[in-house]
Amino acid sequence: MSKESFKVQGLSGKKTLKGILPVMGSKNAVLPVMASSIIFKKPLELSNVPDIEDVYRMSEMFEKLGAEVKRVSKRKYIVSGNLVNKSEMDPEISKRFRASVILTGPLLSRFGKVSFPYPGGCVIGKRPIDLFLNGFEKMGASIKEEGNKFIITAPRKGLQGASIFFKVPSVTATETFVMAAILAKGTTYLKNIALEPEVTSLIEYLVGCGAKISGVGTTTLKIVGTGGRLLSPKPYKTIPDRLETGSFLILGALSAKDLTITNCNPEHVEILIDLLKDSGVDIKVEKSSIRVRGRDKVRSFDIKTHEYPGFPTDLQAPTVVYLTQAIGESLVFETIFEGRLSFTEDLINMGANITLWDAHRATVKGPTKLKGREVDGPDIRAGLALLLAAIVSSGESIINNVYYIDRGYESIEDRFSKIGVKIERIKK
Ligand code: UD1
Repeated sequence: MSKESFKVQGLSGKKTLKGILPVMGSKNAVLPVMASSIIFKKPLELSNVPDIEDVYRMSEMFEKLGAEVKRVSKRKYIVSGNLVNKSEMDPEISKRFRASVILTGPLLSRFGKVSFPYPGGCVIGKRPIDLFLNGFEKMGASIKEEGNKFIITAPRKGLQGASIFFKVPSVTATETFVMAAILAKGTTYLKNIALEPEVTSLIEYLVGCGAKISGVGTTTLKIVGTGGRLLSPKPYKTIPDRLETGSFLILGALSAKDLTITNCNPEHVEILIDLLKDSGVDIKVEKSSIRVRGRDKVRSFDIKTHEYPGFPTDLQAPTVVYLTQAIGESLVFETIFEGRLSFTEDLINMGANITLWDAHRATVKGPTKLKGREVDGPDIRAGLALLLAAIVSSGESIINNVYYIDRGYESIEDRFSKIGVKIERIKK
Protein backbone atom coordinates (compact mmCIF):
# COMPACT_ATOMS: atom_id res chain seq x y z
CA MET A 1 0.00 0.00 0.00
CA SER A 2 1.42 3.40 -1.00
CA LYS A 3 2.25 5.98 1.64
CA GLU A 4 1.30 8.92 -0.52
CA SER A 5 -0.57 12.05 0.48
CA PHE A 6 -2.14 15.04 -1.22
CA LYS A 7 -0.93 18.52 -0.38
CA VAL A 8 -3.66 21.04 -1.11
CA GLN A 9 -3.55 24.82 -1.00
CA GLY A 10 -7.12 25.86 -0.14
CA LEU A 11 -9.17 28.55 -1.88
CA SER A 12 -10.46 30.12 1.39
CA GLY A 13 -14.03 29.70 0.17
CA LYS A 14 -13.44 31.60 -3.07
CA LYS A 15 -15.23 30.35 -6.17
CA THR A 16 -12.53 30.27 -8.80
CA LEU A 17 -12.50 26.82 -10.41
CA LYS A 18 -13.31 26.73 -14.07
CA GLY A 19 -13.06 24.47 -17.07
CA ILE A 20 -14.06 20.94 -17.91
CA LEU A 21 -14.07 18.00 -15.54
CA PRO A 22 -14.64 14.65 -17.28
CA VAL A 23 -16.21 11.71 -15.44
CA MET A 24 -14.66 8.24 -15.79
CA GLY A 25 -16.36 4.86 -16.04
CA SER A 26 -18.03 3.57 -12.90
CA LYS A 27 -15.98 1.42 -10.52
CA ASN A 28 -19.10 -0.22 -9.10
CA ALA A 29 -20.35 -1.06 -12.59
CA VAL A 30 -17.18 -2.42 -14.13
CA LEU A 31 -16.20 -4.73 -11.25
CA PRO A 32 -19.33 -6.94 -11.42
CA VAL A 33 -19.11 -7.13 -15.22
CA MET A 34 -15.49 -8.28 -14.85
CA ALA A 35 -16.72 -10.91 -12.37
CA SER A 36 -19.41 -12.04 -14.80
CA SER A 37 -16.74 -13.04 -17.34
CA ILE A 38 -16.54 -16.32 -15.40
CA ILE A 39 -19.97 -17.36 -16.69
CA PHE A 40 -18.99 -16.76 -20.33
CA LYS A 41 -17.68 -19.15 -22.97
CA LYS A 42 -15.25 -16.64 -24.43
CA PRO A 43 -13.25 -13.59 -23.32
CA LEU A 44 -15.16 -10.43 -22.63
CA GLU A 45 -14.20 -7.00 -23.93
CA LEU A 46 -14.61 -3.98 -21.65
CA SER A 47 -14.29 -0.33 -22.60
CA ASN A 48 -14.38 2.96 -20.69
CA VAL A 49 -12.64 1.17 -17.80
CA PRO A 50 -11.38 3.56 -15.09
CA ASP A 51 -7.68 3.41 -14.24
CA ILE A 52 -8.12 2.71 -10.52
CA GLU A 53 -6.75 0.42 -7.81
CA ASP A 54 -9.89 -1.73 -7.48
CA VAL A 55 -9.66 -2.68 -11.18
CA TYR A 56 -6.01 -3.69 -10.64
CA ARG A 57 -7.05 -5.78 -7.63
CA MET A 58 -9.78 -7.53 -9.61
CA SER A 59 -7.27 -8.19 -12.42
CA GLU A 60 -4.79 -9.68 -9.92
CA MET A 61 -7.55 -11.85 -8.49
CA PHE A 62 -8.37 -13.22 -11.94
CA GLU A 63 -4.72 -14.00 -12.56
CA LYS A 64 -4.60 -15.96 -9.27
CA LEU A 65 -7.68 -17.87 -10.44
CA GLY A 66 -5.86 -18.96 -13.61
CA ALA A 67 -7.39 -16.38 -15.99
CA GLU A 68 -5.95 -13.61 -18.05
CA VAL A 69 -6.77 -9.90 -17.94
CA LYS A 70 -5.22 -8.08 -20.87
CA ARG A 71 -5.13 -4.32 -21.02
CA VAL A 72 -5.27 -3.60 -24.72
CA SER A 73 -5.30 0.19 -24.36
CA LYS A 74 -5.70 2.69 -21.54
CA ARG A 75 -9.44 2.06 -21.13
CA LYS A 76 -9.93 -1.25 -22.89
CA TYR A 77 -9.53 -4.68 -21.29
CA ILE A 78 -10.05 -8.24 -22.44
CA VAL A 79 -11.01 -10.44 -19.50
CA SER A 80 -10.63 -14.16 -20.13
CA GLY A 81 -12.80 -15.33 -17.24
CA ASN A 82 -13.49 -18.43 -19.35
CA LEU A 83 -9.94 -19.58 -18.44
CA VAL A 84 -10.54 -19.50 -14.68
CA ASN A 85 -9.59 -22.94 -13.41
CA LYS A 86 -9.85 -22.68 -9.65
CA SER A 87 -12.34 -21.32 -7.21
CA GLU A 88 -10.28 -20.49 -4.11
CA MET A 89 -10.19 -16.72 -3.82
CA ASP A 90 -6.85 -15.26 -2.75
CA PRO A 91 -7.31 -14.12 0.87
CA GLU A 92 -4.85 -11.23 0.70
CA ILE A 93 -6.48 -9.70 -2.37
CA SER A 94 -10.02 -10.34 -1.07
CA LYS A 95 -9.23 -8.48 2.09
CA ARG A 96 -8.25 -5.41 0.11
CA PHE A 97 -11.57 -4.83 -1.62
CA ARG A 98 -15.11 -5.61 -0.61
CA ALA A 99 -16.33 -6.06 -4.18
CA SER A 100 -14.32 -9.31 -4.33
CA VAL A 101 -17.38 -10.92 -2.72
CA ILE A 102 -19.26 -10.74 -6.05
CA LEU A 103 -16.94 -13.40 -7.45
CA THR A 104 -18.53 -15.96 -5.14
CA GLY A 105 -21.71 -16.20 -7.27
CA PRO A 106 -20.12 -16.94 -10.65
CA LEU A 107 -17.40 -19.16 -9.13
CA LEU A 108 -19.84 -21.26 -7.15
CA SER A 109 -22.28 -21.67 -10.02
CA ARG A 110 -19.56 -22.63 -12.50
CA PHE A 111 -17.29 -24.81 -10.31
CA GLY A 112 -19.71 -26.04 -7.66
CA LYS A 113 -17.37 -24.77 -4.94
CA VAL A 114 -15.91 -21.51 -3.74
CA SER A 115 -13.74 -20.52 -0.81
CA PHE A 116 -13.16 -16.98 0.34
CA PRO A 117 -12.19 -15.07 3.47
CA TYR A 118 -14.43 -12.51 5.10
CA PRO A 119 -14.19 -9.75 2.47
CA GLY A 120 -12.42 -6.48 3.28
CA GLY A 121 -12.75 -3.02 1.82
CA CYS A 122 -13.57 0.32 3.35
CA VAL A 123 -13.82 0.70 7.09
CA ILE A 124 -17.42 1.90 7.17
CA GLY A 125 -18.81 -0.13 10.02
CA LYS A 126 -20.18 -3.64 9.99
CA ARG A 127 -20.48 -5.10 6.51
CA PRO A 128 -22.19 -8.43 7.02
CA ILE A 129 -22.41 -11.23 4.44
CA ASP A 130 -25.48 -13.02 5.82
CA LEU A 131 -27.48 -12.32 2.64
CA PHE A 132 -24.84 -14.17 0.63
CA LEU A 133 -24.66 -17.16 2.97
CA ASN A 134 -28.47 -17.45 3.32
CA GLY A 135 -28.99 -17.13 -0.43
CA PHE A 136 -26.45 -19.83 -1.28
CA GLU A 137 -28.11 -22.14 1.25
CA LYS A 138 -31.49 -21.51 -0.40
CA MET A 139 -29.92 -22.60 -3.70
CA GLY A 140 -28.97 -25.89 -2.05
CA ALA A 141 -25.34 -25.14 -1.13
CA SER A 142 -23.69 -26.11 2.13
CA ILE A 143 -21.48 -23.75 4.10
CA LYS A 144 -18.41 -24.56 6.17
CA GLU A 145 -16.30 -22.10 8.11
CA GLU A 146 -12.68 -23.22 8.33
CA GLY A 147 -10.20 -20.98 10.09
CA ASN A 148 -10.68 -17.57 8.54
CA LYS A 149 -12.43 -18.72 5.40
CA PHE A 150 -15.80 -19.85 4.18
CA ILE A 151 -16.12 -22.89 1.94
CA ILE A 152 -19.38 -23.10 0.02
CA THR A 153 -20.27 -26.25 -1.87
CA ALA A 154 -23.12 -26.60 -4.35
CA PRO A 155 -25.15 -29.82 -4.49
CA ARG A 156 -23.78 -32.53 -6.80
CA LYS A 157 -26.34 -31.65 -9.48
CA GLY A 158 -25.40 -27.94 -9.34
CA LEU A 159 -26.96 -24.87 -7.76
CA GLN A 160 -30.75 -25.03 -7.77
CA GLY A 161 -33.19 -22.25 -8.60
CA ALA A 162 -34.76 -20.75 -5.48
CA SER A 163 -36.87 -17.90 -4.18
CA ILE A 164 -34.63 -15.44 -2.36
CA PHE A 165 -35.93 -12.39 -0.52
CA PHE A 166 -33.29 -9.83 0.48
CA LYS A 167 -34.15 -8.35 3.87
CA VAL A 168 -32.25 -5.27 2.68
CA PRO A 169 -31.72 -4.43 -0.98
CA SER A 170 -27.99 -5.07 -1.20
CA VAL A 171 -26.09 -4.03 -4.34
CA THR A 172 -23.39 -6.70 -4.33
CA ALA A 173 -25.75 -9.46 -3.11
CA THR A 174 -28.15 -8.72 -5.97
CA GLU A 175 -25.29 -8.86 -8.50
CA THR A 176 -23.89 -12.05 -6.98
CA PHE A 177 -27.20 -13.91 -7.11
CA VAL A 178 -28.08 -12.75 -10.61
CA MET A 179 -24.82 -14.33 -11.79
CA ALA A 180 -25.30 -17.47 -9.67
CA ALA A 181 -28.89 -17.95 -10.86
CA ILE A 182 -28.00 -17.71 -14.56
CA LEU A 183 -26.00 -20.95 -14.49
CA ALA A 184 -28.25 -22.67 -11.92
CA LYS A 185 -30.82 -25.39 -12.68
CA GLY A 186 -34.39 -24.12 -12.68
CA THR A 187 -35.92 -20.74 -12.00
CA THR A 188 -34.78 -18.24 -9.37
CA TYR A 189 -36.81 -15.35 -8.03
CA LEU A 190 -34.84 -12.51 -6.46
CA LYS A 191 -37.06 -10.20 -4.42
CA ASN A 192 -36.41 -6.75 -2.95
CA ILE A 193 -33.32 -6.33 -5.12
CA ALA A 194 -31.18 -3.20 -5.34
CA LEU A 195 -32.01 -0.83 -8.21
CA GLU A 196 -28.73 1.10 -8.33
CA PRO A 197 -27.79 1.94 -11.96
CA GLU A 198 -24.70 -0.29 -11.69
CA VAL A 199 -26.94 -3.29 -10.88
CA THR A 200 -29.31 -2.51 -13.74
CA SER A 201 -26.39 -2.04 -16.11
CA LEU A 202 -25.04 -5.51 -15.24
CA ILE A 203 -28.46 -7.12 -15.65
CA GLU A 204 -29.15 -5.41 -18.98
CA TYR A 205 -25.72 -6.47 -20.20
CA LEU A 206 -26.31 -10.10 -19.22
CA VAL A 207 -29.76 -10.07 -20.86
CA GLY A 208 -28.09 -8.72 -24.02
CA CYS A 209 -25.78 -11.74 -23.89
CA GLY A 210 -28.67 -14.19 -23.72
CA ALA A 211 -29.49 -14.51 -20.00
CA LYS A 212 -33.21 -15.17 -19.44
CA ILE A 213 -34.14 -12.50 -16.91
CA SER A 214 -37.49 -10.77 -16.61
CA GLY A 215 -38.56 -7.92 -14.35
CA VAL A 216 -35.49 -5.77 -15.17
CA GLY A 217 -35.91 -2.34 -13.59
CA THR A 218 -38.31 -3.65 -10.91
CA THR A 219 -37.59 -5.01 -7.43
CA THR A 220 -38.33 -8.64 -8.39
CA LEU A 221 -36.38 -10.60 -10.97
CA LYS A 222 -37.25 -13.97 -12.49
CA ILE A 223 -34.16 -15.74 -13.78
CA VAL A 224 -34.43 -18.94 -15.77
CA GLY A 225 -31.19 -20.87 -15.31
CA THR A 226 -29.22 -22.40 -18.16
CA GLY A 227 -28.33 -25.48 -16.09
CA GLY A 228 -24.62 -24.78 -16.49
CA ARG A 229 -24.49 -23.58 -20.10
CA LEU A 230 -22.18 -20.57 -20.40
CA LEU A 231 -23.20 -17.31 -22.06
CA SER A 232 -21.73 -15.79 -25.24
CA PRO A 233 -20.17 -12.39 -24.57
CA LYS A 234 -20.77 -9.02 -26.20
CA PRO A 235 -18.58 -5.96 -25.60
CA TYR A 236 -19.48 -3.89 -22.52
CA LYS A 237 -19.06 -0.13 -22.26
CA THR A 238 -18.80 0.99 -18.65
CA ILE A 239 -21.46 3.50 -17.63
CA PRO A 240 -20.30 6.87 -16.22
CA ASP A 241 -19.56 6.94 -12.51
CA ARG A 242 -22.51 8.65 -10.84
CA LEU A 243 -20.62 8.98 -7.55
CA GLU A 244 -17.84 10.87 -9.28
CA THR A 245 -20.47 12.97 -11.04
CA GLY A 246 -22.11 13.79 -7.72
CA SER A 247 -18.83 14.57 -5.96
CA PHE A 248 -17.78 16.87 -8.81
CA LEU A 249 -21.15 18.65 -8.65
CA ILE A 250 -20.53 19.32 -4.98
CA LEU A 251 -17.02 20.55 -5.73
CA GLY A 252 -18.56 22.90 -8.30
CA ALA A 253 -21.21 24.10 -5.85
CA LEU A 254 -18.49 24.80 -3.27
CA SER A 255 -15.73 26.31 -5.37
CA ALA A 256 -16.60 26.83 -9.04
CA LYS A 257 -16.80 30.01 -11.01
CA ASP A 258 -17.90 28.03 -14.03
CA LEU A 259 -17.39 24.27 -14.23
CA THR A 260 -18.72 21.78 -16.78
CA ILE A 261 -18.86 18.14 -15.77
CA THR A 262 -18.79 15.99 -18.91
CA ASN A 263 -19.23 12.30 -19.89
CA CYS A 264 -21.87 11.81 -17.22
CA ASN A 265 -25.48 10.70 -16.92
CA PRO A 266 -27.30 13.48 -15.01
CA GLU A 267 -30.37 11.25 -14.50
CA HIS A 268 -28.33 9.13 -12.10
CA VAL A 269 -27.79 12.07 -9.73
CA GLU A 270 -31.22 13.65 -10.02
CA ILE A 271 -31.78 13.87 -6.28
CA LEU A 272 -28.52 15.75 -5.70
CA ILE A 273 -29.15 18.13 -8.61
CA ASP A 274 -32.59 18.98 -7.19
CA LEU A 275 -31.28 19.53 -3.67
CA LEU A 276 -28.39 21.73 -4.81
CA LYS A 277 -30.63 23.77 -7.13
CA ASP A 278 -33.14 24.34 -4.32
CA SER A 279 -30.26 25.36 -2.10
CA GLY A 280 -29.34 28.13 -4.55
CA VAL A 281 -26.59 26.67 -6.76
CA ASP A 282 -26.69 27.57 -10.45
CA ILE A 283 -26.92 24.25 -12.33
CA LYS A 284 -27.70 23.62 -15.99
CA VAL A 285 -28.28 20.07 -17.09
CA GLU A 286 -27.66 18.78 -20.61
CA LYS A 287 -27.93 15.20 -21.88
CA SER A 288 -24.45 14.10 -20.80
CA SER A 289 -23.00 17.14 -19.08
CA ILE A 290 -23.77 19.46 -16.19
CA ARG A 291 -22.68 23.09 -15.90
CA VAL A 292 -22.34 24.30 -12.33
CA ARG A 293 -21.58 27.72 -10.89
CA GLY A 294 -21.19 28.12 -7.15
CA ARG A 295 -23.15 30.81 -5.34
CA ASP A 296 -22.58 32.60 -2.06
CA LYS A 297 -25.32 32.42 0.61
CA VAL A 298 -26.69 29.01 -0.28
CA ARG A 299 -29.32 27.39 1.95
CA SER A 300 -28.95 24.19 4.00
CA PHE A 301 -31.04 21.04 3.53
CA ASP A 302 -31.53 17.72 5.30
CA ILE A 303 -30.44 14.39 3.86
CA LYS A 304 -31.42 10.84 4.61
CA THR A 305 -29.43 8.20 2.76
CA HIS A 306 -31.52 5.63 0.96
CA GLU A 307 -31.26 2.98 -1.72
CA TYR A 308 -31.43 4.26 -5.32
CA PRO A 309 -33.11 6.48 -6.47
CA GLY A 310 -32.90 7.95 -2.96
CA PHE A 311 -29.93 9.89 -1.64
CA PRO A 312 -26.77 7.74 -2.11
CA THR A 313 -24.79 6.88 1.00
CA ASP A 314 -21.64 7.30 -1.10
CA LEU A 315 -22.43 11.01 -1.56
CA GLN A 316 -23.25 11.65 2.09
CA ALA A 317 -19.70 12.65 3.09
CA PRO A 318 -19.11 15.17 0.27
CA THR A 319 -22.58 16.61 0.91
CA VAL A 320 -21.74 17.15 4.59
CA VAL A 321 -18.79 19.27 3.42
CA TYR A 322 -21.19 21.32 1.29
CA LEU A 323 -23.56 21.76 4.23
CA THR A 324 -20.76 23.27 6.36
CA GLN A 325 -20.83 26.16 3.85
CA ALA A 326 -24.63 26.56 3.64
CA ILE A 327 -26.73 28.85 5.83
CA GLY A 328 -28.79 27.04 8.46
CA GLU A 329 -28.92 23.71 10.27
CA SER A 330 -29.04 20.38 8.46
CA LEU A 331 -29.85 16.94 9.75
CA VAL A 332 -27.83 14.18 8.16
CA PHE A 333 -29.31 10.73 8.66
CA GLU A 334 -27.06 7.90 7.43
CA THR A 335 -29.33 4.87 7.27
CA ILE A 336 -27.17 2.40 5.30
CA PHE A 337 -23.77 2.16 7.05
CA GLU A 338 -22.96 2.95 10.64
CA GLY A 339 -19.31 4.02 10.31
CA ARG A 340 -19.89 6.57 7.61
CA LEU A 341 -20.13 9.65 9.81
CA SER A 342 -16.88 9.15 11.68
CA PHE A 343 -15.01 11.34 9.18
CA THR A 344 -16.91 14.34 10.64
CA GLU A 345 -14.31 14.37 13.43
CA ASP A 346 -11.73 15.59 10.89
CA LEU A 347 -14.17 18.18 9.58
CA ILE A 348 -14.76 19.42 13.12
CA ASN A 349 -10.98 19.78 13.52
CA MET A 350 -11.03 21.88 10.37
CA GLY A 351 -13.58 24.22 11.98
CA ALA A 352 -16.95 22.72 11.04
CA ASN A 353 -19.84 23.01 13.50
CA ILE A 354 -21.10 19.43 13.56
CA THR A 355 -22.75 17.48 16.35
CA LEU A 356 -22.63 13.72 16.05
CA TRP A 357 -25.68 12.39 17.93
CA ASP A 358 -25.01 8.71 17.30
CA ALA A 359 -23.49 6.46 14.63
CA HIS A 360 -26.27 7.37 12.22
CA ARG A 361 -27.22 11.01 12.85
CA ALA A 362 -25.42 14.34 12.80
CA THR A 363 -26.43 17.98 12.62
CA VAL A 364 -24.36 20.47 10.67
CA LYS A 365 -24.61 24.21 11.36
CA GLY A 366 -23.36 26.55 8.68
CA PRO A 367 -21.79 28.47 7.29
CA THR A 368 -18.38 28.00 8.90
CA LYS A 369 -14.93 28.88 7.66
CA LEU A 370 -12.75 25.79 7.36
CA LYS A 371 -9.00 25.78 8.03
CA GLY A 372 -6.44 23.52 6.37
CA ARG A 373 -5.24 20.59 8.51
CA GLU A 374 -3.50 17.25 8.19
CA VAL A 375 -6.17 14.54 8.02
CA ASP A 376 -6.34 10.81 7.33
CA GLY A 377 -8.66 9.71 4.51
CA PRO A 378 -10.45 6.88 6.35
CA ASP A 379 -12.25 5.39 3.32
CA ILE A 380 -12.76 6.01 -0.38
CA ARG A 381 -15.76 8.36 -0.14
CA ALA A 382 -14.75 10.17 3.06
CA GLY A 383 -11.25 10.56 1.60
CA LEU A 384 -12.68 12.46 -1.35
CA ALA A 385 -14.94 14.50 0.94
CA LEU A 386 -11.92 15.61 2.99
CA LEU A 387 -10.20 16.58 -0.24
CA LEU A 388 -13.19 18.82 -1.06
CA ALA A 389 -12.98 20.27 2.45
CA ALA A 390 -9.28 21.00 1.92
CA ILE A 391 -10.08 22.82 -1.33
CA VAL A 392 -12.67 25.07 0.36
CA SER A 393 -10.45 25.73 3.42
CA SER A 394 -7.94 28.46 4.03
CA GLY A 395 -4.27 27.44 4.11
CA GLU A 396 -2.61 24.14 3.45
CA SER A 397 -4.02 20.66 4.06
CA ILE A 398 -2.42 17.26 3.88
CA ILE A 399 -4.71 14.32 3.10
CA ASN A 400 -3.10 11.03 4.04
CA ASN A 401 -4.00 7.51 2.88
CA VAL A 402 -4.42 8.55 -0.72
CA TYR A 403 -4.58 4.83 -1.48
CA TYR A 404 -8.28 4.91 -0.57
CA ILE A 405 -8.99 7.75 -3.01
CA ASP A 406 -6.99 5.93 -5.71
CA ARG A 407 -9.18 2.87 -5.20
CA GLY A 408 -12.08 4.66 -6.84
CA TYR A 409 -10.99 7.88 -8.51
CA GLU A 410 -8.57 7.95 -11.44
CA SER A 411 -5.67 10.45 -11.10
CA ILE A 412 -7.87 12.92 -9.32
CA GLU A 413 -5.01 15.39 -8.79
CA ASP A 414 -4.46 15.73 -12.56
CA ARG A 415 -8.12 16.31 -13.28
CA PHE A 416 -8.52 18.75 -10.36
CA SER A 417 -5.29 20.65 -11.26
CA LYS A 418 -6.67 21.31 -14.74
CA ILE A 419 -9.63 23.25 -13.33
CA GLY A 420 -7.49 25.32 -10.97
CA VAL A 421 -7.11 23.28 -7.76
CA LYS A 422 -3.64 23.61 -6.20
CA ILE A 423 -2.97 19.98 -5.43
CA GLU A 424 0.18 17.90 -5.38
CA ARG A 425 0.83 14.21 -4.67
CA ILE A 426 3.63 13.83 -2.16
CA LYS A 427 5.50 10.89 -0.61
CA LYS A 428 5.82 11.11 3.15
C1 UD1 B 1 -22.31 -1.24 -2.66
C2 UD1 B 1 -21.30 -0.29 -3.26
C3 UD1 B 1 -20.94 0.80 -2.25
C4 UD1 B 1 -22.21 1.48 -1.72
C5 UD1 B 1 -23.23 0.46 -1.26
C6 UD1 B 1 -24.58 1.08 -0.92
C7 UD1 B 1 -20.07 -1.74 -4.76
C8 UD1 B 1 -18.79 -2.45 -5.06
N1 UD1 B 1 -20.11 -1.05 -3.60
O1 UD1 B 1 -21.68 -1.86 -1.54
O2 UD1 B 1 -20.13 1.77 -2.93
O3 UD1 B 1 -21.87 2.29 -0.62
O4 UD1 B 1 -23.47 -0.52 -2.28
O5 UD1 B 1 -25.09 1.76 -2.03
O6 UD1 B 1 -21.00 -1.75 -5.55
N2 UD1 B 1 -26.12 -5.96 4.15
C9 UD1 B 1 -26.52 -6.97 5.01
N3 UD1 B 1 -26.13 -8.24 4.76
C10 UD1 B 1 -25.38 -8.56 3.67
C11 UD1 B 1 -24.99 -7.55 2.78
C12 UD1 B 1 -25.38 -6.24 3.05
O7 UD1 B 1 -27.19 -6.71 6.01
O8 UD1 B 1 -25.07 -9.76 3.50
C13 UD1 B 1 -26.52 -4.57 4.43
C14 UD1 B 1 -25.33 -3.62 4.66
O9 UD1 B 1 -24.85 -3.69 5.97
C15 UD1 B 1 -25.94 -2.28 4.33
C16 UD1 B 1 -26.98 -2.63 3.25
O10 UD1 B 1 -27.12 -4.03 3.27
O11 UD1 B 1 -26.62 -1.76 5.44
C17 UD1 B 1 -26.60 -2.21 1.88
O12 UD1 B 1 -25.27 -2.58 1.61
P1 UD1 B 1 -24.87 -3.18 0.20
O13 UD1 B 1 -25.78 -2.67 -0.86
O14 UD1 B 1 -24.67 -4.64 0.33
O15 UD1 B 1 -23.44 -2.53 0.00
P2 UD1 B 1 -22.34 -3.16 -0.88
O16 UD1 B 1 -22.98 -3.98 -1.95
O17 UD1 B 1 -21.28 -3.76 -0.05
